[in-house]
Amino acid sequence: MSEPTSTTSESTRAGGARILLEGVTKRYPGQERAAVDNVTLEIPAGEIVMLVGPSGCGKTTTMKMINRLIEPTSGRIFIGDDDVTDRNADQLRRHIGYVIQGAGLFPHMTVADNISLVPKLLKRDKSRISDRVDELLELVNLDPGQYRDRYPRELSGGQQQRIGVARALAADPPVLLMDEPFGAVDPITRQRLQDELLRLQEELHKTIVFVTHDFDEAVKLGDRIAILQVGSEIVQYDTPERILSHPADDFVRGFVGHGAALKQLTLTRVRDVELHDAAVAQVGGDEQAAIADARAIGREHVIVLDAQQRPQRWLSLRDLERPGSLRAVERDHDLETVSLASTLNDALDEMLTASHGVVVVTGRRNAYQGVVRVETIMDAMNELRAAADDAEPVV
Ligand SMILES: Nc1ncnc2c1ncn2[C@@H]1O[C@H](COP(=O)(O)OP(=O)(O)OP(=O)(O)O)[C@@H](O)[C@H]1O
Ligand SMILES: [Mg+2]
Repeated sequence: MSEPTSTTSESTRAGGARILLEGVTKRYPGQERAAVDNVTLEIPAGEIVMLVGPSGCGKTTTMKMINRLIEPTSGRIFIGDDDVTDRNADQLRRHIGYVIQGAGLFPHMTVADNISLVPKLLKRDKSRISDRVDELLELVNLDPGQYRDRYPRELSGGQQQRIGVARALAADPPVLLMDEPFGAVDPITRQRLQDELLRLQEELHKTIVFVTHDFDEAVKLGDRIAILQVGSEIVQYDTPERILSHPADDFVRGFVGHGAALKQLTLTRVRDVELHDAAVAQVGGDEQAAIADARAIGREHVIVLDAQQRPQRWLSLRDLERPGSLRAVERDHDLETVSLASTLNDALDEMLTASHGVVVVTGRRNAYQGVVRVETIMDAMNELRAAADDAEPVV
């Protein structure tokens, strides 16, 4: 299902640029071994490339050479057709978005000031900058009216991370560098932020270089994954599907780990499987009508939606027998939902922690889309297993 993009300006939809590293080496003073040793890597325009590898293997150094936070000792780096090793480093950085763990927001500046920092440095028009701040807040799923004037300390970790992404996108750079951006948040927030990044990328088509320790995150987000060894040596550079089915060697196999078939669930999105309709009721609706509708399709529970179609809580038919039970329905804070961009793995997780054999799926602005059933996930898993058995054996 495609999501509306009408609130997004033309400029936000600009695509990414190819990045090419050609024989790039970084030797820190006094170090025997090069931190990054003669790396050649092409990152296609508009793709998300994940750099995965053990601590100290040179991921951050590789990434920081792209925006020249670190100067390469030798080699060349191109963005589009520009040799950026020749560009003024400060100017270059204003055209490359950069997101780090903990967001790196300026604590004494409001959310709006944090986001508009780079556009102001680029001397963009003031009224356009203010519109742009609101547009970016919408894009990262935060209500501008509520968050524009807050300070970073008044935000949760996940919200700060969203502002970090908004700030990186502010000047509409073709390239986004993300260094373990979601490393410091809890697993549920992390999953949401990943889903949001995927949704954003569908609209923006930036070229994104994303560093992570987490192989599952790499499989979920990456169009391609580069598995790195010490010295940023590329052991395998391929699509997640190929790395899972044909790991290049034991080192890669170690990353992939056991249960590669199960991990393939991480490759299938909720939007790729059939959604089912739950019985739904509206806050303030008629209880008897809701019961009749649910019975007509053989359901024992209904999902109650608010005026914006956002799921609030499940009610049983017995709950609905109480007159007025739909009048003031409070949102169930334990109600977990997944988005269209979530993986089947995420959906399965939610099902295993809730008692229902279904999980509610939401789309843009958290509006209800349908449900995924556990049977759907089982079917998908069987298909993936069969496909993996058919694949050539790995030697
Ligand atoms: N400023 C520096 N001076 C000297 N050596 C450095 C410097 N920065 C990094 N290194 C070394 O270079 C190597 C690569 O570091 P880098 O930060 O790129 O690794 P990384 O893959 O990002 O690790 P992590 O996953 O822990 O973030 C490491 O051995 C590190 O000790
Ligand atoms: Mg690092």
